[in-house]
Amino acid sequence: MKSLIIYFSSYKNNTEKIAKVFADKINADLINLKNLKEIETDSYDLIGFGSGVYKERLAQQLFNSIEKLNLKDKKVFVFSTSGIGIKFYNNKLIKLLVSKGATNKGSFACKGSLVAREFSNNKIFDIVGRLSEGHPNDKDLRKAEEFIEKVIL
Ligand SMILES: Cc1cc2nc3c(=O)[nH]c(=O)nc-3n(C[C@H](O)[C@H](O)[C@H](O)COP(=O)(O)O)c2cc1C
Repeated sequence: MKSLIIYFSSYKNNTEKIAKVFADKINADLINLKNLKEIETDSYDLIGFGSGVYKERLAQQLFNSIEKLNLKDKKVFVFSTSGIGIKFYNNKLIKLLVSKGATNKGSFACKGSLVAREFSNNKIFDIVGRLSEGHPNDKDLRKAEEFIEKVIL
């Protein structure tokens, strides 16, 4: 099975760490949307899409890049890192992928570190920042490995 992982990770490369764990484990090609020229998906069976969460959403750049892709009958999975670390943020992207004819094989999320004062005055993010310190950590990376093993079963 030929696999590709497309990701957006602009803040602290937290999502990139997860993308690289997946890529190592399943020998996938990696596309960082930062250096993107063109995405060719025809030759891939499985495509993973990942992003950090910025203001309650996955990166718009990721959504934009998906618009142009032909995903009919492709297997896909979605992953994100965020201060809170919940899978809920992945749902909108999963809906889009399914609406384009893809089959969703899984959804992964973990915490990603943040420094609240770098982007928000909201006190909530102080707490979220403290709780997300050091993430993704070794345990998160192990969970990522377990996740991707199930995706390719
Ligand atoms: C501008 C900005 C907005 C953010 N908004 C949220 C948010 O709404 N919810 C959340 O849980 N984390 C939020 N975060 C924290 C990031 O989701 C977290 O640090 C993530 O791991 C960043 O991924 P990256 O390093 O791959 O870019 C925000 C971070 C930034 C920089």
